[in-house]
Amino acid sequence: MPLFLLHVHAALLILLLTAAAVDVSSATLPPDFLYLVNTLKNTISDPTSALSSWSSSSTSPCSSWAGVSCDPADPRNATVTSLDLSGLDLTAPFPSDICLLLPRLSFLSLSNNSFSSPADDSTLSSALAGCSRLVHLDLSQNLFTGSLPESIASLPLLTYLDLSQNLFTGSLPESVASLPLLTYLDLSGNNFSGDFPESYGRFPRLEVLSVVYNLLDGKIAHFLGNVSSLKMLKLSYNPFVPGRFPDEFGNLTNLEILRMKECGLVGEIPVSLRRLKKLKNLDLVINSLEGVIPTWIMELTDLVQIELYNNSLTGELPRTGWSNLSGLRKLDASMNRLTGTIPEELTRLPLVSLNLYENDLQGDLHPSIAESPVLCARGAADAQEQFLRRDT
Ligand SMILES: *[C@@H]1O[C@H](CO)[C@@H](O)[C@H](O)[C@H]1NC(C)=O
Ligand SMILES: *[C@@H]1O[C@H](CO)[C@@H](O)[C@H](O)[C@H]1NC(C)=O
Ligand SMILES: *[C@@H]1O[C@H](CO)[C@@H](O)[C@H](O)[C@H]1NC(C)=O
Ligand SMILES: *[C@@H]1O[C@H](CO)[C@@H](O)[C@H](O)[C@H]1NC(C)=O
Ligand SMILES: *[C@@H]1O[C@H](CO)[C@@H](O)[C@H](O)[C@H]1NC(C)=O
Ligand SMILES: *[C@@H]1O[C@H](CO)[C@@H](O)[C@H](O)[C@H]1NC(C)=O
Ligand SMILES: *[C@@H]1O[C@H](CO)[C@@H](O)[C@H](O)[C@H]1NC(C)=O
Repeated sequence: MPLFLLHVHAALLILLLTAAAVDVSSATLPPDFLYLVNTLKNTISDPTSALSSWSSSSTSPCSSWAGVSCDPADPRNATVTSLDLSGLDLTAPFPSDICLLLPRLSFLSLSNNSFSSPADDSTLSSALAGCSRLVHLDLSQNLFTGSLPESIASLPLLTYLDLSQNLFTGSLPESVASLPLLTYLDLSGNNFSGDFPESYGRFPRLEVLSVVYNLLDGKIAHFLGNVSSLKMLKLSYNPFVPGRFPDEFGNLTNLEILRMKECGLVGEIPVSLRRLKKLKNLDLVINSLEGVIPTWIMELTDLVQIELYNNSLTGELPRTGWSNLSGLRKLDASMNRLTGTIPEELTRLPLVSLNLYENDLQGDLHPSIAESPVLCARGAADAQEQFLRRDT
């Protein structure tokens, strides 16, 4: 073969190889990433260019694309398993094909953006129905509207569901209670109204339930007392029908945090609370509770915080037992009708905040409180100021 032909062959070969390399690199961007960069990115308004790393010329999308994690972390054969787009100032309707096109997605957070529902609920419904691998779904702090699609129940692996701070309306979604692995459910800060569905007595594994700041205007459901796995129950700020604290809640013996601010509670501080030996935070503020602060509260030795302000509690603070509450840091019983003096034993606890203003307490403020280096200024100063005001 003449020499010049060999040269031509070599040049062709190099050309062919170069072309192949280019082809290979774009062809090996796996389908998940092609969807993200060619479809999803184009539907999202992204004023701060938070998604600029999503580029089709990228060779290692798993490690370099914002919010994207993969399994396995091999760029030539990777599937997207996690998408965390929280707090990126993004605006878009919910991408209804997302689970279809990211079939291995198990973690999805769109929290703290301006995502909204697709045109009608059935679309969100069918979108979520395809997300059968999701373990963690966080749509909090967005602009989702409408009622919650019952198709949320078709997510058999879901353990974590946060829909808080959206514009959801209608009844609480009934079907979430049948999610077999759900441990965390936050529905706070929406406009859910009406009663708790009866299914809420049957959550198999739920540990955290929050419905704070909604428009729930039925009764506080006694059957929540059936959910013995609960560690945190937050019902504050709902216009519930005024009523007594449900005795059944005494069965929630794993409860560590109970928040029932402004829940329309009447009657005495319920004796069923006595059974909640793991309670750390008890918050019953802005209700109409009457009677005394019970002495059995000293049996709840894990208590860190007791919030009772703005009720109609009467009588004296328990005289003894406070030394049992060695972990107590905050006590607020202000705006009640308590009488008597501040118990000496209470003053020996290492509190960081003590609020007792607007009561009918008497006597000198114990020096250990007045001079306490650990009490925050508000607690001590308010208490002292109130004492002085009452005394004059
Ligand atoms: C990707 O990896 C999986 C196993 O992890 C394998 O079954 C599949 O065939 C691979 N796909 C490609 C396109 O290499
Ligand atoms: C929400 O995201 C913004 C950035 O877009 C951030 O500054 C803010 O702290 C986030 N808020 C919360 C509550 O996470
Ligand atoms: C939610 O309820 C509040 C108070 O009733 C109301 O002002 C607001 O318009 C409602 N929002 C939606 C989305 O329903
Ligand atoms: C309480 O829980 C049991 C067992 O999980 C269930 O069979 C029962 O129906 C529940 N009761 C209510 C009122 O939800
Ligand atoms: C508490 O649970 C027990 C079973 O563990 C049940 O028999 C009882 O009825 C429950 N009590 C209340 C007040 O719901
Ligand atoms: C105290 O509670 C009443 C209702 O019981 C409410 O109207 C009032 O706003 C509350 N005040 C404060 C300061 O929380
Ligand atoms: C202190 O706590 C124990 C349980 O740890 C309890 O048996 C005892 O009655 C408590 N003391 C008072 C005064 O309540």
